[in-house]
Amino acid sequence: MLAFKHFRLSVLLYYIIDSLSRKAHVPATIRETAMATIDASIAPARPARRTDWLGRSAIFCYLAIAAGQLLFIAFILLYYYPPTLTGHFAAWNDKPIIKGFVAGDTAGNIFFAVHVLLAAVITFGGLVQLVPAIRNRWPALHRWNGRLYMLCALALALGGLWMTWGRGTWLNYIGAIGITLDAVLIVGFTALAWKAARHRQFAEHRRWAIRLFAVASAVWFMRVSYMAWALATGGAGIGKAMDGPFDIFLAFANSLLPLAIAEIYLRASAHGTPLARQATAALLGVSGLVILAGSAGAWMMMWGPYI
Ligand code: HEM
Repeated sequence: MLAFKHFRLSVLLYYIIDSLSRKAHVPATIRETAMATIDASIAPARPARRTDWLGRSAIFCYLAIAAGQLLFIAFILLYYYPPTLTGHFAAWNDKPIIKGFVAGDTAGNIFFAVHVLLAAVITFGGLVQLVPAIRNRWPALHRWNGRLYMLCALALALGGLWMTWGRGTWLNYIGAIGITLDAVLIVGFTALAWKAARHRQFAEHRRWAIRLFAVASAVWFMRVSYMAWALATGGAGIGKAMDGPFDIFLAFANSLLPLAIAEIYLRASAHGTPLARQATAALLGVSGLVILAGSAGAWMMMWGPYI
């Protein structure tokens, strides 16, 4: 603010001296020297006004993710929480699902119940963890929410693995292997984010935590991607048993694509050239728009109709 006022005063001075010296017929060389002196005084005072497009598009992308994940949370709270908390497990199967409730399979049903209850907790917790103002203002909240987030991540990944391979909840091997890769990444990144925090290596911790957020969001990202793709192509490459080319791509891309985008962002923001920063800003902007479209589609087709 102070620098801006100084800049405006200097500009005013510049024009006053220029017009007075012209009227007084001051020789051109003297006038130019005076002007150059004023130029020099303006230059350092001029505020650095380069727009931080990378920062802005990262915020936009975060807000798009938050909007989409809040819709996912609303669906889980309204569709799964009431029957799960009241023991009416059979209601899980009111929408298309691979297994959900299986009469007589007490262990499998309990695993599923815990899984959907924690799904809302981890999704909300991840959004809270990424807000810098919360991290800075309430560090204790960040630490406790972080511990809860990591415990949920481990429980969802290990419980999900058991449901996939132990309970046999899968449509095809490619999908099962893809979600297994996600579980492995979740467990690995949880360990690395936790280790870095324990050793107070906070820059390192932030990088692993962002990678963890990317892969822990894979299940949500898969649903949103299906909808964005269906809106754009009418469902090209999606097979009846989820075994088409797009299904195979997304089986692995659900975790690897967000992870790649997070990695590009981390590198560009840390030591990217101006061109790399701008390209990454564009990537995040487009990703945010795709996420908004896919989330709206997921709400209209996958979640909204069942609540
Ligand atoms: C970490 C974040 C995760 C979240 C937020 C999440 C969320 C959910 C939700 C909401 C459901 C209910 C099904 C639906 O309505 O679509 C579900 C089911 C399921 N999830 Fe996860 N999940 C996560 C991770 C995983 C992982 C890593 C695996 C596998 C390794 C997994 C395996 C499963 C299985 C097998 C089902 C049962 C599907 C069925 O019976 O039809 N989940 N999950």
